[in-house]
Amino acid sequence: MTDKTLLRALNGETLPVPPVWLMRQAGRYLPEYRATRARAGDFLKLCYTPDLAAEVTLQPIRRYGFDAAILFADILLIGQALGADLWFETGEGPRMSTVTDAAGVAALKPADAIHDTLAPVYETVRILSRELPRETTLIGFAGAPWTVATYMVAGRGKDGQAGAHAMKAADRAAFQALIDRLSEATVEYLSAQIDAGAEVVKLFDSWAGALKGPDFEDFCVAPIARIIAEVKARHPGIPVIAFPREAGEAYVGFARKTGADCVALDNSVSADWAAAHVQVDGCVQGNMDPALMVTGGEALTREARRICKAFAGGPHIFNLGHGITPDADPDNVHRLLEAIRG
Ligand code: CP3
Repeated sequence: MTDKTLLRALNGETLPVPPVWLMRQAGRYLPEYRATRARAGDFLKLCYTPDLAAEVTLQPIRRYGFDAAILFADILLIGQALGADLWFETGEGPRMSTVTDAAGVAALKPADAIHDTLAPVYETVRILSRELPRETTLIGFAGAPWTVATYMVAGRGKDGQAGAHAMKAADRAAFQALIDRLSEATVEYLSAQIDAGAEVVKLFDSWAGALKGPDFEDFCVAPIARIIAEVKARHPGIPVIAFPREAGEAYVGFARKTGADCVALDNSVSADWAAAHVQVDGCVQGNMDPALMVTGGEALTREARRICKAFAGGPHIFNLGHGITPDADPDNVHRLLEAIRG
């Protein structure tokens, strides 16, 4: 039996105090992150420089003692590894060259060609598995195919789902081919992270809420189920967390349909509803509104305790419903941990 609480929760154990980590826990709300990022020059250099990426991954572990560390990288690196151009506009977010039709998909590199570009990410994982405290679990990750596709089709995130919807309407087979290429590459990518030392992997489907009905089944559930089956075939027993953000009612049964060991919840569903309808199938993670990390106070303490209580009857990993924002107060993380562990 492991003493790593995150692995125990993922294995289905109900713990008296839930393990805790935060989405985007390495990020701009921390002065030490901003300093290392300045040293790297830009965000992508930070992602591709193993010593610095490992350093920013470790910063929130040193400061707060979270139960898990998440590899510092980005979900869009895989698009770059498949041949797309990727850059970040300061203050605006990611930009990519676009893939809009069958010819664009055909021009992408094969899935197993990604490792040259992504080798520095695997080196970051190797450094982290040496340097993390023994009780801290290392989480690797990738974007889910639908979410990565929305950026690759539109070349940006804002209003980006419109481009993916248009391509899928114009040529569903070409769009399916893009999803398939991303699914194959994601199996390769996560397997390499696991070989390098990742103990859990997470799939981020941040734009899952833009898919409805059969599209949700075809482009969110099916690719995630395929990736999980293939990763687990290569790495039996590796736990997988899936985050179909804003899936709403489609959170019900998501773990059963995809084989995920844990479903991460955004903050649009209520904790009591999720305990009754989602946690019945296994571990859940998330749900607290990230805005509380900015405003803090008694409201933060009360809400953290309410969420812990709602999920106390089953396996639970404490987290936010989305990433901690750059304007969050670092002291509020101490308040949060006190509310959960104190
Ligand atoms: O601490 C961690 O969470 C690990 C690292 C991590 C980052 N991005 C670092 C990052 C992870 C797991 C991600 C996932 C990611 N990236 C997602 C899925 C989760 C989500 O937020 O819904 C998505 C959609 C992306 C794509 C992406 N990367 C966007 C849209 C942006 C710009 C928005 C923003 O917050 O600025 C990024 C940039 C990014 N990725 C930053 C960080 C720390 C900020 C970049 C900076 O330092 O300037």
